[in-house]
Amino acid sequence: MKQYLNHPVFETITQAAKELNLPVYVIGGFVRDILLERPTADVDIVVLGSGITLAEKVAYLMGGDTKLSVYRNFGTAMISCRENDQSWQIEFVGARKESYRLDSRKPLVENGTLEDDQNRRDFTINALSLSLNPNDFGRLIDPFGGLQDLDRKVIRTPLDPDITFSDDPLRMMRAIRFAAQLDFTIAPETYDAIPRNKERLEIVSMERIMDEFNKIMMTGKPSRGIFQLYETGLLDKFFPQLTALKGAEMVDGKGHKDNFLHTLQVLDNLAEKTGDLWLRWAALLHDIAKPLTKKYDLQAGWTFYGHEFLGSKMVPQIFTRLKLPLNEKMKYVKKLVLLHLRPQVLSDSEVTDSAVRRLLFDAGDDIDDLMLLCEADITSKNQDKIRKFLGNFQHVREKLQEVEEKDRIRNWQPPISGKLIMETFGIGPSREVGLIKNAIREAILDGVIPNEYEAAFNLMLAEAKKIGLKPHT
Ligand code: CTP
Repeated sequence: MKQYLNHPVFETITQAAKELNLPVYVIGGFVRDILLERPTADVDIVVLGSGITLAEKVAYLMGGDTKLSVYRNFGTAMISCRENDQSWQIEFVGARKESYRLDSRKPLVENGTLEDDQNRRDFTINALSLSLNPNDFGRLIDPFGGLQDLDRKVIRTPLDPDITFSDDPLRMMRAIRFAAQLDFTIAPETYDAIPRNKERLEIVSMERIMDEFNKIMMTGKPSRGIFQLYETGLLDKFFPQLTALKGAEMVDGKGHKDNFLHTLQVLDNLAEKTGDLWLRWAALLHDIAKPLTKKYDLQAGWTFYGHEFLGSKMVPQIFTRLKLPLNEKMKYVKKLVLLHLRPQVLSDSEVTDSAVRRLLFDAGDDIDDLMLLCEADITSKNQDKIRKFLGNFQHVREKLQEVEEKDRIRNWQPPISGKLIMETFGIGPSREVGLIKNAIREAILDGVIPNEYEAAFNLMLAEAKKIGLKPHT
């Protein structure tokens, strides 16, 4: 395994540890990732002694622009350095033996042996370590068969899963996340322990839960991990609005589709087209209000009227609860949820220029993402239907391009500003200014006047006259 440790920092760590007479090892994700041939520059070093003392010595020996950060409260230290255009983060920690209290994930920490430290890791594949000691430099220490699990592509806890999960309940999400990311399976005894321990997720902060959830969202086929979160009961613990989509009700022999499975399918379809996390979130939430708007109508069958409006209103509440950023990204998801039916409505009917202009006006620069979402929303099993719908959307795309080239609505700025209206009629900010601006916008979107200054100026004069305003001389 020596070939993996040819970064000069490993040599320096060996030398520093030797001078301090402390046994030292590389452990965890770094070892896993080099064996999987996934490039990685995050290194965890465990030392039988003080991680801080060792890091200080290493930083001293390395000199140059090595950056050392010490976290005394946690007894850890971090060295950042650059090598071959890559920035390396090396974390130093003393080997620990931890025992956990039931009511908290803050452990009681004691110094321990390497074995103690490996025992408290989440999965066999993350408990692998490599010796950095001169007598056996590069030796793999694998007490739980992690190498075999890597080979067989299995996620398994090193100890009884009830102990490992109860120690840090986030590990239940990590099991599903690693399986999804690495295309591994979860060992049956490990998987079966998740439903038994799911209640413990309550003690984990939402930020940590979302970190794992978003990693699942970013995998090639997000449905896989999300379905396992559902099946194990974890999803319902932190995201009940999503599990509420599950199931299909029947009335008079008529059922509706299972909106949870449909949503996962849309998400997978979209994941084939984009690596944008927030566009994927829009897919996840596009039908979120269906359970709340569902009605059975004797004539129309199952309806979900207004689910796009209610769904978009739910976005800020969901983001708040899930501790996701309440910024432009949230507004973007909200907007896409609100507009997700619009291109479809357009494609079902005669595509008029004014309807296209309105869609361009409302979607702005997000129009391309909206079209991707709508195309992903086609989940029929009937290939002919899919072809037909995609053809309709292609027509909408062509129309969007044609109208945009002609009318430039996508990033629309009114050709007449509020300031000009106020100056022309000698008035201050008032309801009248708003009325005139609205009339101009509506006339442009309806195609009554072109999107140009002169036509808009004349319309302003005509509208002002209607409400009794005269140009100021
Ligand atoms: N670890 C653990 N339990 C956790 C989190 C981490 O036992 N809840 C251990 C694992 O041994 C893991 C190491 O700490 O390999 C480093 O954790 P982290 O950096 O979060 O994960 P990585 O395994 O490096 O993987 P990734 O970077 O993909 O998160």
